[in-house]
Amino acid sequence: MTAHILDGNALSASVRGQLAEDAAALTARGVQPCLAVILVGADPASAVYVRNKVAACEKAGIRSLRFDYPQDADPDTVLARIAELNADPSVHGILVQLPLPPQFDEAAVLEAISVTKDVDGFHAENVGRLSQGQEAFFPCTPHGVMKMLEAAEVPVKGAHAVVIGRSNIVGKPMAMLLLRAGATVTVCHSQTRDLAEHTRRADILVAAVGRPGFVTGDMVRPGAAVIDVGINRLKEGPNAGKLCGDVDFESVRKVAGVLTPVPGGVGPMTITMLLANTVESARRAARAQGV
Ligand code: GUN
Repeated sequence: MTAHILDGNALSASVRGQLAEDAAALTARGVQPCLAVILVGADPASAVYVRNKVAACEKAGIRSLRFDYPQDADPDTVLARIAELNADPSVHGILVQLPLPPQFDEAAVLEAISVTKDVDGFHAENVGRLSQGQEAFFPCTPHGVMKMLEAAEVPVKGAHAVVIGRSNIVGKPMAMLLLRAGATVTVCHSQTRDLAEHTRRADILVAAVGRPGFVTGDMVRPGAAVIDVGINRLKEGPNAGKLCGDVDFESVRKVAGVLTPVPGGVGPMTITMLLANTVESARRAARAQGV
């Protein structure tokens, strides 16, 4: 068997095309969707993510505001900016790029963002709403994974899904979204014993570990859908500098039924869902204003 490779770039392009139309329609009604992005420090990966997010907004007709702070920024300065953006009715989404420098209380910063503008879906109230099955902004990466599964017509209801990783950004919300969609979910992590025993039972296997090539073909059930959330930059060897996922592509593609590549898989969908959440937030604001 050779896996069907899911094209995240193509799916992103089609979803972003629709979002650009939605943004244009809202703009014509006087409510241009607007995302404010805050970056603290000079982490090179974060700088790339933020640049890509801002560029994607511009392309979709979403206004973006960018605020950069130095590594030694006073948390109160950033919190004051968030309060200002919360109060600004022309701003529909606020995103603080993570990780933050050590002087910041990350949870306090995330909770300072208005729940209605929390397009990253990281505010504790949005996390709670997601777990209770209520309307919420869903975190962008796992939301993008659900869109990819849907587009590829991978059945989720009744499937056994195994998520490797338990981060607040990917693993936990991924498990919640799969559960909401009717899967039976196992969450594995660095303390899990006999990991391959679990992964080999998965109809849907999501790898969010942060270790290049961690999932190998022998860990995958034949025909399974394997979703690679890893974005690792190889530090050494002949492919140094290259982006690489958590899945060993060559061995897994021979076993899996469906597989996402890195790059060109989940990555572009993350930004697409950020745009989708921002447009949705603007739509809600327009509705509240009666326009
Ligand atoms: N850092 C890594 N992924 C993300 C993300 O999706 N959102 C934010 N704000 N920071 C991140």
